Amino acid sequence: EKGTYNHFMLKEIDEQPFVIRNIIQKYQNSDGNIKLDKDIRQAINDADRLYIIAAGTSYHAGLVGKELMEKVAEKPVEVHIASEFLYNEPILSKKPLFIFISQSGETADCRGVLVNVKKQGYKSLTITNVPGSTLAREADFTLHTYAGPEIAVASTKAYTAQMAVLSILAMDSAKAQGIDTDFDAMQELGLAANAMESLCDQKETMEQIAKDYMSGTRNCFFIGRALDYHVVQEGALKLKEISYIQAEGFAGGELKHGTIALIEKGTPVIAVITQEHINLNIRGNVQEVEARGANACIVSTDRTKEEGDHIVMPDIHERMTPIVSVVPLQLIAYYAALHRGCDVDKPRNLAKSVTVE
Ligand code: F6R
Repeated sequence: EKGTYNHFMLKEIDEQPFVIRNIIQKYQNSDGNIKLDKDIRQAINDADRLYIIAAGTSYHAGLVGKELMEKVAEKPVEVHIASEFLYNEPILSKKPLFIFISQSGETADCRGVLVNVKKQGYKSLTITNVPGSTLAREADFTLHTYAGPEIAVASTKAYTAQMAVLSILAMDSAKAQGIDTDFDAMQELGLAANAMESLCDQKETMEQIAKDYMSGTRNCFFIGRALDYHVVQEGALKLKEISYIQAEGFAGGELKHGTIALIEKGTPVIAVITQEHINLNIRGNVQEVEARGANACIVSTDRTKEEGDHIVMPDIHERMTPIVSVVPLQLIAYYAALHRGCDVDKPRNLAKSVTVE
């Protein structure tokens, strides 16, 4: 039930720190080691490449999962949109492992791929919020995201939970291979949960930003680079699906190759800047759009902040930032939709799970 909340979406956004802490518990043994089915560990270890298959928000979690797996565990990963993979299978590696990421576990495009790859004799793992779902039952292995029921059509806590589980898998895989990593997923997730909480406590700020930037706009751009690029794609999807504002997430450096033509006086551009090594590059991109009249809003961290940034999140491990930096984007989308009078929990034309191809 919604309790004191007017919408499930806001309730589910607020639940995220608890979900992350719950995941830490569920994936930890009493001795502090990662709790993971040894067959799953083995399957990941045996694979020469992981193929993440997903749709929508879960696809965006997959993009972050690739970064974690490759950077922490040195495992090559490809991320594919399920409906694309289904009719356009790429050349596969010798020993692929398929990882399906799906909140509902019922997405038909994912199921289509699962059926195909099973026929080809490949192993599969489903990461889902619904353990008894079709994708969970039909894959060789399942991991639970423990986010609790997600009622709002726009996915929030399932997305952050998916990334949390992927971070744990990345650390586990690094350990299983004997890779020396300073990345302690459990500890970093704890810090991420605290940081999420501090952002959830800044709702007035997010609401004001939504009013200032979104109340009369037709469109909105989100920019970021590397990890932040994946997060802004998700931020744009959240905004468009519930507020009906046309929104796109762009790689900061790519904007000038065409899309910058759409920037007009007052066009909102939200930039996410959490990584030090590209701080100056993305700030350059912000200047480019501001020079064309854009109304820029910057989300940064204590490490990357500059005076005048609109939202500054606490510092956490750079690889973990997507779990936190998406929270302001979720909240801005929520308040934008609310103030435009949209049906936040049940946006037009959408269903919670897409069971047709
Ligand atoms: C967006 C959203 C959708 C789903 C997509 C995949 O907020 O909810 O984009 O993420 O339909 O659904 P699952 O994860 O259930 O496979």
